[in-house]
Amino acid sequence: MDSYSIESNKKKSRLPARLDLAQSGTGLILGLFMWVHMFLVGSIVLGKGAFNFVAKTMELSFLSDTGHGYPAAVFFAVLTVFTLFIIHALLGVRKFPISWKQHRIIVDQMQMMNHTDTNLWYIQVVTGFIMFFAGSVHLYVMLTNPGGIDPYMSADRMVSGTMWPLYFILLICVELHGSIGLYRLCMKWGWFKAGNPKETRQKLKTFKNKATIFFLSLGIIALLVFIVIGINHRSRVGERYSKLETAVERVPALVAEVKALQPSDATHQ
Ligand code: HEM
Repeated sequence: MDSYSIESNKKKSRLPARLDLAQSGTGLILGLFMWVHMFLVGSIVLGKGAFNFVAKTMELSFLSDTGHGYPAAVFFAVLTVFTLFIIHALLGVRKFPISWKQHRIIVDQMQMMNHTDTNLWYIQVVTGFIMFFAGSVHLYVMLTNPGGIDPYMSADRMVSGTMWPLYFILLICVELHGSIGLYRLCMKWGWFKAGNPKETRQKLKTFKNKATIFFLSLGIIALLVFIVIGINHRSRVGERYSKLETAVERVPALVAEVKALQPSDATHQ
């Protein structure tokens, strides 16, 4: 073999490792982003005002005098995440079984071995495949409506726009895929070692399970809250949330408080 072909072979052999590194890197960013994303979306559980505050802060409304913010900031954030999402998915496709025969061999071997980590890998393949479609729809909607995130617009999208079934499927897939992905990354690169490898694996697996349960519960509660808001808002679809609404909603409670503070007629006389 001449020196040129040895050199080119060397270059070829480095490519899979580089692609693996790129997949791990994009996966790590997306996995951590999804945890932050769930807290931001989950703010709806604290009320419409809390979610509105988060949405406006994402639009950098604190930088503008009018308080309207810059939807372009959201657009560029979504564009960045969408790009990472596509790169990560393209890199992941390399590992997919590409024929029915390959798929059968993998499933047969999984049944034979019954090895948890291999089963987890397969869950990642399946959820990744579903997310390729469901995630793209969501990201496209966000990309084309960067100024359309507010408690009512989001709830209308879910109920009147019938997006809730897609969000439900996406939620299950993303929580399984994300936490399994982060667990596998820790195992692969040897992060958070605790005692012997068996102990590390057990501790990481416990953490992964807890993270899945926590984020899945938060996501389902948030989805239910959005659905209730969306159902109550069906007659006013497209109407945006106004900050004053929180104040208006509080009026009956304030009136009751004032009444309670006023001396009764008996004490007056
Ligand atoms: C910067 C990018 C993103 C933004 C700005 C964003 C924003 C939002 C918003 C505002 C909602 C509430 C519903 C709505 O308004 O339609 C939502 C829900 C959701 N998003 Fe995203 N998202 C982003 C990326 C992603 C990605 C990459 C995924 C997963 C592939 C994802 C998965 C979900 C899921 C599962 C829900 C439903 C949450 C629940 O049921 O509680 N999002 N997102």
